[in-house]
Formats: sequence, C-alpha cells, structure tokens
Amino acid sequence: MFSVQRFYRDRRTISLKPEKLTPTASWLLRSCYCHSGRDVVLQPGGQKTPNNQVTKRHKKVRPPCQPVLDHFDQQYSQELGDLWTSARSVLLDSNTWQYGVMLNRFTAVTGVTQLLQSQGFSRFLPQKDVSQLLCDVRSSVSSSTYQAAKDYLSSPHCNSKCPPVDSCPQPGCTTRSPIQELDSEPLLTLPRPKLQCYIHPYPVRFPSQAHRPGQLKQYYLLNAASLLPVLALQVRDGEKVLDLCSAPGGKALAIMQYATPALLCCNEPDPHRRDWLAKTLESFLPHSLNSRVIVSSQDGRCFGISEAMTYDKVLVDAPCSNDRSWLYTSNSQQGEQRLKERAKLPVLQAQLLRSALSAVRPGGVVVYSTCTLSSSENYAVVETVLNDFPEAEPEDLWEEIAIPLSKYFTFSPAHPGHGQTPLKPSLQPQDSSVSSNHHRPGILVVPQPGKTWGPMFLSRIRRRK
Ligand SMILES: C[S@@+](CC[C@H](N)C(=O)[O-])C[C@H]1O[C@@H](n2cnc3c(N)ncnc32)[C@H](O)[C@@H]1O
Repeated sequence: MFSVQRFYRDRRTISLKPEKLTPTASWLLRSCYCHSGRDVVLQPGGQKTPNNQVTKRHKKVRPPCQPVLDHFDQQYSQELGDLWTSARSVLLDSNTWQYGVMLNRFTAVTGVTQLLQSQGFSRFLPQKDVSQLLCDVRSSVSSSTYQAAKDYLSSPHCNSKCPPVDSCPQPGCTTRSPIQELDSEPLLTLPRPKLQCYIHPYPVRFPSQAHRPGQLKQYYLLNAASLLPVLALQVRDGEKVLDLCSAPGGKALAIMQYATPALLCCNEPDPHRRDWLAKTLESFLPHSLNSRVIVSSQDGRCFGISEAMTYDKVLVDAPCSNDRSWLYTSNSQQGEQRLKERAKLPVLQAQLLRSALSAVRPGGVVVYSTCTLSSSENYAVVETVLNDFPEAEPEDLWEEIAIPLSKYFTFSPAHPGHGQTPLKPSLQPQDSSVSSNHHRPGILVVPQPGKTWGPMFLSRIRRRK
C-alpha cells in the first residue's frame, strides 16, 4: 500500500528520464530550471546531477501569526470539529501544499503536457462537460444578448483589457473600436474550449513560467479548488459574464478556458490589483479577445444599479479573510488589525452578492465564493441575502460537484448546527444517503493531508424568472 504520509516523510526526489522527453519538453525543463519556484529545483541532465532529478527541497516552515492562529482555533474547532485538527496541520505546513497547473488553450502546450505527465501529474477535470459547450456561438447567442453586449462595450465605464492605448504595453494592441472587433472576429477560429488542470498527488510544485516576449504563457499555477466556482458557473459560449471581484485574474482565465463568452467583464476597483489583473490577461489571452474580455474599475456594489439584469452569469469571488495567507501575517499587530477588520467583511460580502443578484438577468446564475473556512463569511452571507432577495434560489452543488470530485477534494457539507461529516471518497452519486435533500446553501473544500486544496466555499444562486 502506498501511503501519502510515508511519501512526505521518505521521498524527496523524482527521477526524470531525459530520453523520454521530446525536445520541447527538454527545452521547457531547462527553461523551468532557470525560473524555479521557491520549493522545487529542477536539475537538467549532465549539468548538476547525473540522473536528471526533480528534487523537492523542503522550505523552512514559517511560524504562523499567533493571534490569527488562536482566533482560528477557537472559531474553526467549533465550526468544523475534528476536520479542523487535520486542516490546521495542513495549513501550518507549507511543505505539504499541492499546486495545480492550468493549461492555456490559446497557445501550444504539448511540451508542457508531456513534462507534467512524466513527472506524475494527471488531469483531474472530465472533458465531456466542457466539450459539450462547443457550439456555434452566433447561433447560440440571442440577438438581444448580442446587442446588449455591444451596448455594454460602448458604455463609458468599461476599459478594454488592454489599458488605454497610450499605456498599452503590447506592441500589437489595436485601436479598433471594440464593437467593430466583436462584429468581425472569426470566433470559430478560436481553439476549442477546454479547461485542463493537472495536479499531482504529492506536494510537487511545477515552476512558474517566466515572461516570454511576444508569446503567451502556457500555464497558470493555482490552488485547484479555485476552479470549482468556475465549474459551478457553467458559462456557455456566447454568454455575458461578470467577474465582479477579479484580480489577480485566475478565475477569469479559467472562465476563458472553459468557454468563449460574448463578453467577460473583469471588475477590480483596487488600482494596483487591477494592473496585476490586466497583466495576467495580457500574458494569457490573444489580442483577438481584447474586445470580449474587458476590465472595469467600479466598486462591485454599484453593478446592481448601473448594470441591472444585464448578465447571464456573475461570479462573486469575494474579498475575504484568506485563511492561508492570514495565518502567515508577518507580525502580531498586523494580525490583530486584520482580525478586527474581519468582522466587517460579511457586510461587504452581502452587499456584493446582492449587487450581483441585481446585475444578473432573470433566470441567470450567480456563484458566490471565498477562500476562507469561516461560516460567517460563507453560509451566513448567503443565507442573509437569500432572506431579503425573494427571487434568489440556491442550487445544490453537492451532487453536481462534491460527489464527482470527492476523489480529489475533501468537501464538508457542514453547516453550523448540521454536523460536520466530510464526504467519503467511496460515496457515489447514486448513494441516496448523501443526496438527501438537506438545505445546503453551499459546499466547502477543507484542506486535508494528501488533498491539501482549499479552503474554498462556493454557492450557486439562480435568479428566478
Ligand atoms: C479573492 S480576491 C479575487 C480573486 C480573483 N477572483 C482570482 O481568481 O484571481 C477579491 C478581490 O476583490 C476586490 N475587492 C475588494 N473590494 C471590492 C469591491 N467593493 N468591489 C469589487 N471588488 C472588490 C479585492 O481588491 C480583490 O482583488
């Protein structure tokens, strides 16, 4: 029997056989070596080690911020029970963290794919859901939606994904009007929508890719649980989509891998984070999408009024107390300050969710997500908004997402007061004991040893017609 714990303890090295790599993969290996991530060192053949080893070098474990840890211990042991004990051990040992590699469909990735597979990475998303989405966009977009998208593009508060022309860092960034481009773009020449993410069963980190002048990046590193809100959103080709809290842009990129919307509006009010978002989009998306993927700078709370009933889908990946990073707040004072501000977050989150529900068309869908375990920022926010938004109807993601993906993630249906039983991987969709119709306003991914993804909460809400 293979034990994950034993792997962590004993095994630090993965051997690569260079003769099995294509020239592209070997090139990539060398290029990765030059830009290795913090905790992986790639040592290509004949240079440093004779055996071509990808070595996992253990980082020094950083001490957590004590006030934040104490606060989490108190809150999460109550909310999650025993699940918190194991989640805590994962969050406190960054050497066990896994990383996902999302491929970019807009550039050639064969070499990367081969390299990933040779290192023991495998794809975790079923392709059938995504391939079903491929259709003739012009026939799937209603003329009113298409017209609405065009109208939106000409509205004054939206910028193209390229910053204004005078500050545009890409030489090929055009000054064509977005509407002209939307009309003339040969959409069906875009590669087939395909959200591909590779994960490794062990904490092997694939190095981040350096900037490649004139070329798009081939992959984006992320916590694989970040893809779940995008899967839940079920964007169809030709839809109008709003990513209300968008920077640094990981989920926006995932949406563009998953489908080809008529419009993806990426909103981010913070100027520095918006720059980061624009850079991410520029590094991964071709210029031909400039008119479809736009960056907006509003306070997300305004969309419900300024863009009422406009979008087919809205993602609210809300500002939250990011448990992973807050645990490593650099000093106690800052940690205490964050904890004070934490109490204000649910009010902002509920305002953003209400705004999203107003911005979505009747029959459209909003996904609310956070990367915290805190029930007051998760279930409580959703329930508060459901109480005062009668057209909003929560949808059950348990059978659609939690059960099929339970091999990879640990989901908790835990709802304060409803017990804390994580989903067992052996449970299949037909198991009626799991699918009993409990009121589940969302699902929570809890990091666990060997499945260190999360925290990630997601809830899908449909606006009634
Ligand atoms: C969790 S992050 C989003 C991560 C992003 N969706 C991704 O996948 O890369 C939340 C973002 O919300 C932004 N934010 C904060 N207040 C906001 C507001 N009032 N309206 C919209 N966005 C806001 C933050 O600046 C931050 O960039």
